[in-house]
Amino acid sequence: MTSNTLFEARRHEEILEQTIPASTRPAFHFSPRTGWTNDPNGFSYYQGKYHLFYQYYPYSSTWGPMHWGHAVSDDLLHWEYLPAALAPDTPLDGAGCFSGSAVELDDGRQLLMYTAVAAGPRQPDGTRKDYQTQCVAVGDGRDYVKYAGNPVISAEGLPNGGSIYDFRDPKAWREPDGTYRCVVGSRPEDGSGQILLYSSKDGFEWKLESVLDENKNRFGLMWECPDFFPLDGKHVLLVSPQDMEPDGFEYHNGNGTVGFIGTFDEESKTFHEEHNQAVDYGIDFYATQTLLTPDGRRVMIAWMQNWDTLAIASLKAAWFGQMTVPRELSIRNGRLYQWPIRELEALRSGYVHYENVQLSGEQVLEGIRGRQLDLTVTLRPADEGNVYKKFALWFGWNEKYHTGISFRPYESILKIDRKFSGSRRAIIHQRRCLVPRSGGYLGFRLILDRFSAEIFINDGAQTVTVTVPTDPSIEGIRFFADGDVLMDVEKYDLDMDREEEAANG
Ligand code: FRU
Repeated sequence: MTSNTLFEARRHEEILEQTIPASTRPAFHFSPRTGWTNDPNGFSYYQGKYHLFYQYYPYSSTWGPMHWGHAVSDDLLHWEYLPAALAPDTPLDGAGCFSGSAVELDDGRQLLMYTAVAAGPRQPDGTRKDYQTQCVAVGDGRDYVKYAGNPVISAEGLPNGGSIYDFRDPKAWREPDGTYRCVVGSRPEDGSGQILLYSSKDGFEWKLESVLDENKNRFGLMWECPDFFPLDGKHVLLVSPQDMEPDGFEYHNGNGTVGFIGTFDEESKTFHEEHNQAVDYGIDFYATQTLLTPDGRRVMIAWMQNWDTLAIASLKAAWFGQMTVPRELSIRNGRLYQWPIRELEALRSGYVHYENVQLSGEQVLEGIRGRQLDLTVTLRPADEGNVYKKFALWFGWNEKYHTGISFRPYESILKIDRKFSGSRRAIIHQRRCLVPRSGGYLGFRLILDRFSAEIFINDGAQTVTVTVPTDPSIEGIRFFADGDVLMDVEKYDLDMDREEEAANG
């Protein structure tokens, strides 16, 4: 039965969606049907379609009591909105249906596992702490019924000292033998994060297996939005810690995402970290979630936003929040690599390429412009004995605006700078990414959409993701070198109607 709260949300989104012109949204990045989104949820493949649920407040472009929005897709790029899946409409989740995941049950139904938030008592300092439990809802890919036996994991399922106020974001999956497992973010007595591992035979009755990994105050405080999966012979743990302190050039985002590569000990059910890294080096990236495609690719998506830069929101937008382009993951040389999903290549048209461009000073290249672009740039010094001092690419460029990507080989730093992008807010606008020293050799692929830029450096060893507020009609691209650079450029336009055009001849 659909509650009034869910019914209202569904009616509201259906009407409001009509008032949001497609041209005011990103072209191929997911944005909410109406209102606000943060984390991707329930990112999964179910009965022939990709499903993306999302933290959702349909009534305004700011955060509010969380619903789950819902969309489906055949290619992870063209999304069709479905009615909102969950609303905060029970005593357990009246303060919000927070993040979670989706798995398929044996009987073919879809199980949504989410964090239910219930209002707790006022604290002496006037703040309110809300209780968090893990709940499930079962459905057919469109309509979901919350389980009468909720919560499925509550305070009794916590290890000693685990906080009921910071206990959230279950990511569930099925093991090859059909059993269910999930990881949940939790806060022990040391105040920092830990990840709990639970198992279940049926998806409804869950048992604590272990503390999979502990933060011990190394990477920020609470660890949100965990994900845990095998990849290329290793195990990967992704977490989004709150309140991180930078360490050198790593972890500059306050709230950011850390990727651990290591091994999983099935005996003790614990994870042994071998390597950690920032998963993104830009500004707007948080709360990752992955799925496994039918052809075996591990694909990750994230909220393309930062809790500290929300003020960048346009003053009049009817929606707020976007997801990154879905990215294929792999491990190479002990690092997590990311690459835009290959489905993106089907949107390509308008190929223009240049080889061995001799760049010294400013240059504009005929045919290289646009704001929905897949652009690959390869740089090398014209003279290895006298390496150039700086390379820069400006996009979204005209006489007033630009966002710059620059690279200084002597510092080995790639920088993104959007302070001239038209932002009206005193928030951070630039970020530096330290890349391996290479004597002026560097390759990157830049994916531009109307309101974002994602840079995949050196085959995806590092990525830099930012939202960009510049009006999408500003399409200029300008290159610059201080010194002598040899440059190859390959450009494609990315067009959402590309496949339809091809089909219609
Ligand atoms: C992360 C997060 C999650 C929580 C959700 C609430 O961005 O804080 O931990 O489930 O957002 O919207």
